[in-house]
Amino acid sequence: MRMSSAVLSTRYRTAFVTGASTGLGHAFTEMLLAGGVEVWGTSRDPKRLTAREKFHAVALELGDGAEAENVFLAAESAAGGFDLVINNAGFGAFGAYAHTDFSVWEAQFGMMLVNTARLSHAALRGMLARRRGALVNISSIAGEFGMPYQAVYNATKAGLSALNESLMYELHGTGVIVIDFRPGDYRTDFDGSVRRPPQAAALAADAVNTVRMARVWAAFVGMMQSGPAPAHAAASLRRALLRGRSGTVRTGRFFQAVLGPFLARFGSLSLRRRVQEKYFGL
Ligand SMILES: NC(=O)c1ccc[n+]([C@@H]2O[C@H](COP(=O)([O-])OP(=O)(O)OC[C@H]3O[C@@H](n4cnc5c(N)ncnc54)[C@H](OP(=O)(O)O)[C@@H]3O)[C@@H](O)[C@H]2O)c1
Repeated sequence: MRMSSAVLSTRYRTAFVTGASTGLGHAFTEMLLAGGVEVWGTSRDPKRLTAREKFHAVALELGDGAEAENVFLAAESAAGGFDLVINNAGFGAFGAYAHTDFSVWEAQFGMMLVNTARLSHAALRGMLARRRGALVNISSIAGEFGMPYQAVYNATKAGLSALNESLMYELHGTGVIVIDFRPGDYRTDFDGSVRRPPQAAALAADAVNTVRMARVWAAFVGMMQSGPAPAHAAASLRRALLRGRSGTVRTGRFFQAVLGPFLARFGSLSLRRRVQEKYFGL
């Protein structure tokens, strides 16, 4: 059934979307604008955001949690409150865990888990005061199916999903909903923007590990580049927003959105690991 675009804006008048310049965040923004929602969208460089009607470009660096919260609160006050907040900004870092300087992992935990949780906290304070709103945190299938050499990315997404799960219980009956949105691989700029930090010299001497890393990287890029377009994820999110209740949304190609979660639920952990190892050629 095709739902009218007018319905979205009757439920959600204003929205805040982090990482609106590219990929999924850009597609979410387009979907919301098409539905008549007024959007405050962020980028570290607002010149990357296209000016259009009902769109407000916001400069936001999520690496600095206190500053990001101040930026959010200023936008919230200008908007007169947000009915919808989508914490989408994120990045990948690919490297062998022990051979990558820990500052890389610390920065990723800080931005993608701690500061995203901080923006969620700020968003919920406003929503609960108004007794209405939807918080959407963009997690990932990687929180359930960890990818090798992206250990901290997987950990941040698993942590975010766990946070969302608790919030769903806490917020039951308050008029505020939480959506744990878990995409599979989508064709965005994500693989292009994945950081590949320098690896410790010990890794270069480890030929087996170097070959494994190259295989995993090739599988990862292949999956990203053959994934559905971001508009597909935006359509899934739109359906969830129109349902208007808390929940987990898995989206992507069939085997990531349906088959994988089925395996995670009913298969054993060792079977799941065997499937992953085979897939990544480990
Ligand atoms: N693509 C996928 O297959 C996939 C799958 C599962 C989950 N996800 C998740 O979906 C979200 C969006 O990913 P994407 O694929 O759309 O990636 P993308 O195209 O690389 O977009 C990432 C967005 O995050 C923003 N960003 C990055 N670092 C930032 C920082 N330090 N401070 C503020 N903003 C920052 C970027 O904005 P600027 O560069 O303009 O500042 C950009 O708009 C991420 O959380 C990702 O983990 C993606």
